[in-house]
Amino acid sequence: MEKNFWLERWEREEIGFHQNEINPYLLQYWQALSPAPGTQVFVPLCGKSRDMMWLRKQGHPVLGVEISATAVQAFFNENGYTPHHTSSENFEHYAADNIRIMCGDFFELTQEKLTEVKAVYDRASLIALPPEMRERYVSHLVSILPPATQILLVSFDYPQSEMSGPPFAVSTEEVESLYRGRANIRRLAQHDVLAQNPRFKDRGLSRLQENIFLITLN
Ligand SMILES: C[S@@+](CC[C@H](N)C(=O)[O-])C[C@H]1O[C@@H](n2cnc3c(N)ncnc32)[C@H](O)[C@@H]1O
Repeated sequence: MEKNFWLERWEREEIGFHQNEINPYLLQYWQALSPAPGTQVFVPLCGKSRDMMWLRKQGHPVLGVEISATAVQAFFNENGYTPHHTSSENFEHYAADNIRIMCGDFFELTQEKLTEVKAVYDRASLIALPPEMRERYVSHLVSILPPATQILLVSFDYPQSEMSGPPFAVSTEEVESLYRGRANIRRLAQHDVLAQNPRFKDRGLSRLQENIFLITLN
Protein backbone atom coordinates (compact mmCIF):
# COMPACT_ATOMS: atom_id res chain seq x y z
CA MET A 1 0.00 0.00 0.00
CA GLU A 2 1.52 3.27 -1.05
CA LYS A 3 1.76 6.08 1.47
CA ASN A 4 -0.22 8.33 -0.86
CA PHE A 5 -3.15 5.96 -0.66
CA TRP A 6 -3.49 6.70 3.07
CA LEU A 7 -2.71 10.39 2.78
CA GLU A 8 -5.48 10.74 0.20
CA ARG A 9 -7.93 8.75 2.29
CA TRP A 10 -7.38 11.15 5.18
CA GLU A 11 -7.66 14.19 2.89
CA ARG A 12 -10.94 12.87 1.48
CA GLU A 13 -12.13 11.84 4.96
CA GLU A 14 -12.65 8.25 3.80
CA ILE A 15 -11.91 6.90 7.24
CA GLY A 16 -14.55 4.22 7.80
CA PHE A 17 -12.06 2.42 10.06
CA HIS A 18 -12.14 5.22 12.65
CA GLN A 19 -14.27 4.52 15.72
CA ASN A 20 -15.84 7.26 17.80
CA GLU A 21 -16.21 4.89 20.72
CA ILE A 22 -13.40 3.15 22.59
CA ASN A 23 -12.80 -0.26 21.03
CA PRO A 24 -14.81 -2.82 23.03
CA TYR A 25 -12.05 -5.44 22.75
CA LEU A 26 -9.51 -3.03 24.19
CA LEU A 27 -11.83 -2.51 27.15
CA GLN A 28 -12.44 -6.23 27.54
CA TYR A 29 -8.98 -7.69 26.94
CA TRP A 30 -6.43 -5.08 27.99
CA GLN A 31 -6.40 -6.66 31.44
CA ALA A 32 -4.89 -9.79 29.86
CA LEU A 33 -1.68 -7.77 29.43
CA SER A 34 -1.86 -5.75 32.62
CA PRO A 35 1.26 -3.62 32.12
CA ALA A 36 1.95 -1.56 35.23
CA PRO A 37 0.55 1.99 35.18
CA GLY A 38 3.28 4.35 34.10
CA THR A 39 4.71 2.01 31.48
CA GLN A 40 4.69 3.26 27.92
CA VAL A 41 2.29 1.81 25.35
CA PHE A 42 3.10 1.93 21.64
CA VAL A 43 0.25 2.31 19.12
CA PRO A 44 1.50 1.62 15.59
CA LEU A 45 -0.40 3.13 12.63
CA CYS A 46 -2.53 4.95 15.18
CA GLY A 47 -4.70 7.21 13.00
CA LYS A 48 -6.67 9.45 15.35
CA SER A 49 -7.81 6.54 17.47
CA ARG A 50 -9.58 7.55 20.68
CA ASP A 51 -8.26 4.33 22.16
CA MET A 52 -5.08 6.33 22.88
CA MET A 53 -7.14 8.52 25.22
CA TRP A 54 -8.38 5.45 27.07
CA LEU A 55 -4.85 4.05 27.39
CA ARG A 56 -3.68 7.41 28.74
CA LYS A 57 -6.51 7.35 31.29
CA GLN A 58 -5.21 3.98 32.50
CA GLY A 59 -2.01 5.79 33.46
CA HIS A 60 0.12 4.91 30.44
CA PRO A 61 2.29 7.33 28.51
CA VAL A 62 1.29 6.68 24.89
CA LEU A 63 3.52 6.70 21.83
CA GLY A 64 1.88 6.52 18.39
CA VAL A 65 3.16 6.57 14.84
CA GLU A 66 1.05 7.76 11.94
CA ILE A 67 1.89 8.79 8.38
CA SER A 68 -0.89 11.36 7.96
CA ALA A 69 -0.40 14.83 9.47
CA THR A 70 -4.15 15.39 9.00
CA ALA A 71 -4.86 12.43 11.28
CA VAL A 72 -2.37 13.59 13.91
CA GLN A 73 -3.72 17.14 13.96
CA ALA A 74 -7.29 15.84 14.14
CA PHE A 75 -6.41 13.63 17.11
CA PHE A 76 -5.07 16.51 19.17
CA ASN A 77 -7.74 19.03 18.06
CA GLU A 78 -10.66 16.69 18.65
CA ASN A 79 -9.41 15.83 22.11
CA GLY A 80 -8.89 19.44 23.13
CA TYR A 81 -5.08 19.49 23.13
CA THR A 82 -2.60 21.99 21.73
CA PRO A 83 0.42 19.74 21.16
CA HIS A 84 4.05 20.71 21.48
CA HIS A 85 5.76 20.27 18.10
CA THR A 86 9.36 19.25 17.40
CA SER A 87 11.14 17.76 14.39
CA SER A 88 13.73 15.03 14.03
CA GLU A 89 15.32 13.37 11.03
CA ASN A 90 12.36 11.38 9.71
CA PHE A 91 9.53 12.48 11.97
CA GLU A 92 7.48 15.41 13.14
CA HIS A 93 6.70 14.90 16.84
CA TYR A 94 3.51 16.16 18.45
CA ALA A 95 3.04 15.74 22.18
CA ALA A 96 0.54 16.69 24.88
CA ASP A 97 -0.41 15.16 28.22
CA ASN A 98 2.09 12.32 27.78
CA ILE A 99 0.63 11.30 24.43
CA ARG A 100 3.26 11.60 21.72
CA ILE A 101 2.56 10.89 18.08
CA MET A 102 5.41 10.65 15.62
CA CYS A 103 4.18 11.74 12.24
CA GLY A 104 6.06 9.78 9.59
CA ASP A 105 6.63 6.34 8.14
CA PHE A 106 6.46 3.38 10.54
CA PHE A 107 9.20 1.68 8.52
CA GLU A 108 11.61 4.52 9.39
CA LEU A 109 11.16 3.97 13.14
CA THR A 110 14.24 2.80 15.00
CA GLN A 111 14.78 0.82 18.19
CA GLU A 112 16.07 3.83 20.18
CA LYS A 113 12.64 5.48 19.99
CA LEU A 114 10.95 2.50 21.66
CA THR A 115 13.26 1.55 24.52
CA GLU A 116 10.62 2.44 27.16
CA VAL A 117 7.79 0.50 25.52
CA LYS A 118 6.37 -2.44 27.48
CA ALA A 119 3.12 -3.03 25.64
CA VAL A 120 1.59 -2.47 22.21
CA TYR A 121 -1.99 -1.91 21.17
CA ASP A 122 -2.30 -2.90 17.53
CA ARG A 123 -5.73 -2.47 15.96
CA ALA A 124 -6.27 -2.48 12.22
CA SER A 125 -2.61 -2.24 11.23
CA LEU A 126 -2.09 -5.67 9.68
CA ILE A 127 -5.43 -5.45 7.88
CA ALA A 128 -4.39 -2.10 6.43
CA LEU A 129 -1.47 -3.73 4.63
CA PRO A 130 -1.43 -6.03 1.58
CA PRO A 131 0.00 -9.54 2.11
CA GLU A 132 3.53 -8.75 0.92
CA MET A 133 3.82 -5.84 3.36
CA ARG A 134 2.53 -7.73 6.40
CA GLU A 135 5.68 -9.84 6.73
CA ARG A 136 7.77 -6.67 6.42
CA TYR A 137 5.58 -4.93 9.02
CA VAL A 138 5.90 -7.72 11.60
CA SER A 139 9.65 -8.14 10.99
CA HIS A 140 10.18 -4.44 11.51
CA LEU A 141 7.91 -4.25 14.55
CA VAL A 142 9.65 -7.17 16.24
CA SER A 143 13.08 -5.72 15.41
CA ILE A 144 12.38 -2.35 17.08
CA LEU A 145 10.48 -3.50 20.20
CA PRO A 146 12.22 -4.49 23.45
CA PRO A 147 12.20 -8.25 24.27
CA ALA A 148 9.16 -9.56 26.17
CA THR A 149 6.91 -6.75 24.95
CA GLN A 150 3.25 -7.75 25.04
CA ILE A 151 1.01 -6.94 22.08
CA LEU A 152 -2.78 -6.83 22.09
CA LEU A 153 -3.66 -7.42 18.43
CA VAL A 154 -7.19 -6.83 17.12
CA SER A 155 -7.62 -8.07 13.57
CA PHE A 156 -10.29 -8.90 10.95
CA ASP A 157 -10.83 -12.13 9.07
CA TYR A 158 -13.23 -12.89 6.21
CA PRO A 159 -13.11 -14.83 2.91
CA GLN A 160 -10.62 -12.68 0.97
CA SER A 161 -12.14 -13.81 -2.36
CA GLU A 162 -15.39 -12.01 -1.48
CA MET A 163 -13.92 -8.51 -1.18
CA SER A 164 -10.71 -6.73 -2.06
CA GLY A 165 -8.94 -4.85 0.73
CA PRO A 166 -8.21 -2.78 2.59
CA PRO A 167 -9.30 -3.90 5.06
CA PHE A 168 -7.55 -7.13 4.11
CA ALA A 169 -8.43 -10.47 5.68
CA VAL A 170 -5.83 -11.77 8.12
CA SER A 171 -6.44 -15.30 9.35
CA THR A 172 -5.40 -16.77 12.68
CA GLU A 173 -3.03 -19.06 10.77
CA GLU A 174 -1.39 -16.04 9.16
CA VAL A 175 -0.93 -14.28 12.50
CA GLU A 176 0.63 -17.45 13.88
CA SER A 177 2.87 -17.78 10.86
CA LEU A 178 3.94 -14.11 10.96
CA TYR A 179 4.97 -14.27 14.62
CA ARG A 180 6.16 -17.91 14.72
CA GLY A 181 9.62 -18.22 16.24
CA ARG A 182 9.46 -14.60 17.37
CA ALA A 183 6.79 -14.71 20.05
CA ASN A 184 4.28 -16.66 22.06
CA ILE A 185 0.89 -16.28 20.36
CA ARG A 186 -2.42 -16.80 22.12
CA ARG A 187 -5.80 -16.12 20.55
CA LEU A 188 -7.92 -14.68 23.33
CA ALA A 189 -11.22 -14.54 21.46
CA GLN A 190 -13.01 -14.72 18.14
CA HIS A 191 -16.22 -12.75 17.56
CA ASP A 192 -18.63 -12.94 14.60
CA VAL A 193 -19.28 -9.32 13.71
CA LEU A 194 -20.94 -9.36 10.27
CA ALA A 195 -24.35 -8.40 11.69
CA GLN A 196 -22.85 -5.27 13.30
CA ASN A 197 -21.09 -4.27 10.06
CA PRO A 198 -23.77 -3.82 7.37
CA ARG A 199 -21.33 -1.94 5.11
CA PHE A 200 -19.31 -5.15 4.72
CA LYS A 201 -22.43 -7.28 4.31
CA ASP A 202 -23.43 -4.91 1.49
CA ARG A 203 -20.01 -5.49 -0.12
CA GLY A 204 -20.82 -9.21 -0.32
CA LEU A 205 -19.18 -10.76 2.73
CA SER A 206 -20.69 -14.00 4.03
CA ARG A 207 -18.49 -14.09 7.15
CA LEU A 208 -16.64 -11.46 9.18
CA GLN A 209 -14.78 -12.16 12.39
CA GLU A 210 -12.68 -10.12 14.73
CA ASN A 211 -9.84 -11.99 16.36
CA ILE A 212 -8.06 -10.81 19.45
CA PHE A 213 -4.54 -12.06 20.20
CA LEU A 214 -2.13 -11.68 23.04
CA ILE A 215 1.37 -11.85 21.57
CA THR A 216 4.38 -11.91 23.87
CA LEU A 217 7.70 -11.33 22.14
CA ASN A 218 10.61 -13.65 22.90
C1 LIG B 1 -6.84 1.13 9.03
S1 LIG B 1 -6.16 2.57 9.71
C2 LIG B 1 -6.16 2.18 11.44
C3 LIG B 1 -5.96 3.38 12.32
C4 LIG B 1 -6.04 3.09 13.83
N1 LIG B 1 -5.18 2.01 14.24
C5 LIG B 1 -7.46 2.87 14.30
O1 LIG B 1 -7.71 1.86 14.94
O2 LIG B 1 -8.32 3.74 14.02
C6 LIG B 1 -4.44 2.46 9.25
C7 LIG B 1 -3.66 3.72 9.54
O3 LIG B 1 -2.28 3.50 9.24
C8 LIG B 1 -1.73 4.67 8.68
N2 LIG B 1 -0.53 4.23 7.93
C9 LIG B 1 -0.52 3.50 6.79
N3 LIG B 1 0.75 3.22 6.42
C10 LIG B 1 1.56 3.81 7.35
C11 LIG B 1 2.98 3.88 7.53
N4 LIG B 1 3.83 3.29 6.67
N5 LIG B 1 3.47 4.53 8.59
C12 LIG B 1 2.63 5.14 9.49
N6 LIG B 1 1.26 5.10 9.37
C13 LIG B 1 0.74 4.44 8.31
C14 LIG B 1 -2.85 5.24 7.85
O4 LIG B 1 -2.73 6.62 7.57
C15 LIG B 1 -4.08 4.93 8.72
O5 LIG B 1 -4.35 5.99 9.59
